[in-house]
Amino acid sequence: MATIIDGKAIAQTIRNEIAAEVLQLSHKYAQVPGLAVVIVGSRKDSQSYVNMKRKACAEVGIRSFDVDLPEEVSEGEVIKRVHELNNNPDVHGILVQLPLPKHINEEKVLTEISVEKDVDGFHPLNIGKLAMKGREPLFLPCTPKGCLELLSRSGVSIKGKRAVVVGRSNIVGLPVSLLLLKADATVTIVHSHTPDSEKIIREADIVIAAAGQPLMIKGDWIKPGAAVIDVGTNAVDDPTRKSGYRLVGDVDFEEAKKVAGWLTPVPGGVGPLTVAMLLKNTLDGAKCKIER
Ligand code: GUN
Repeated sequence: MATIIDGKAIAQTIRNEIAAEVLQLSHKYAQVPGLAVVIVGSRKDSQSYVNMKRKACAEVGIRSFDVDLPEEVSEGEVIKRVHELNNNPDVHGILVQLPLPKHINEEKVLTEISVEKDVDGFHPLNIGKLAMKGREPLFLPCTPKGCLELLSRSGVSIKGKRAVVVGRSNIVGLPVSLLLLKADATVTIVHSHTPDSEKIIREADIVIAAAGQPLMIKGDWIKPGAAVIDVGTNAVDDPTRKSGYRLVGDVDFEEAKKVAGWLTPVPGGVGPLTVAMLLKNTLDGAKCKIER
C-alpha cells in the first residue's frame, strides 16, 4: 500500500515556518510582506482560489492588497493597475489570477509584472531562466514548486530518476518538467497527442499528473513503488453531495494506492502546497527588499 502524502499537514508546517519569519521581520524592521492578488471577472473557481490565497496571507501575517476588477475591464486598465502595484513599495508580490477573460492578452499582462514581484513565477524572464542550465529564476511557479516540496519532504529523491509529466500547461506541466530536469531527473512529457502514453507512464519512478482528466490514470498504468503526485482538480457530478459535485484527481486514487509507493490525495494533496509556496515566494521577495 502507498504512503499517502498529507499535503495539508506539510503545508501547515510550512505556513507555521513562514508565520514565524514574518513575525521576526515585523519586529526587526517594522515591516511585513505584502501580496497583491488581482482577479478579473467572477469565475467561481478563480474566486474560490483567490479567497483561499487572501485568507492564507492573513493567517501568516502577510498584508494582502485586493484588486477586484469587473469582467468587462479593458486590458489597458489591468496593465495600469499592475504598474501601480509595481510602484507600490509595500507590495512585494503581485499575482494575477488566471485565466483572464478572452479579450485580455494574458501574455501581455504577465510580462508587465515586475520580475522582482513575480511571485507566481510566470514572467517570461523567470520561465526562461527556469528553462536554462546554470540560470536561476527569481521565483518558481507555485504548483510545480509545491510538487517538488512534497517529494522532498516525503523523502523521495529525484536525481537520476525517470519522471513522467502528464500534461504540458504553462501553469503546471511545462514548468514542473523544467524543475524536475534541473533536479537531475530524466524527464518525459506526455500529452493529448502522445500515442501510448500509458506505456510511458508505466516506466516512471515519479509521475506528475496534470492533465485535467478525471481518473485518467489507472492502477495498472503505475510502476509498483512509484511516487505519484496528482495535480488534477476535477469537479465531477455527485448527487449524494449537498453541493452536487465532488473533486477528483487525474489519478484513480483507489486503484493507485494499491500499487504506488507514494500518492497524493485530491483534495488535500498538492492544492494546499500551491498556496504555501505563494506565501513563501512573497516572504522571500519581501526579505530581498526589506533586509537590504
Ligand atoms: N490559475 C490556476 N492556477 C493558478 C496559479 O497558480 N496562479 C495563478 N495566478 N492563476 C492560476
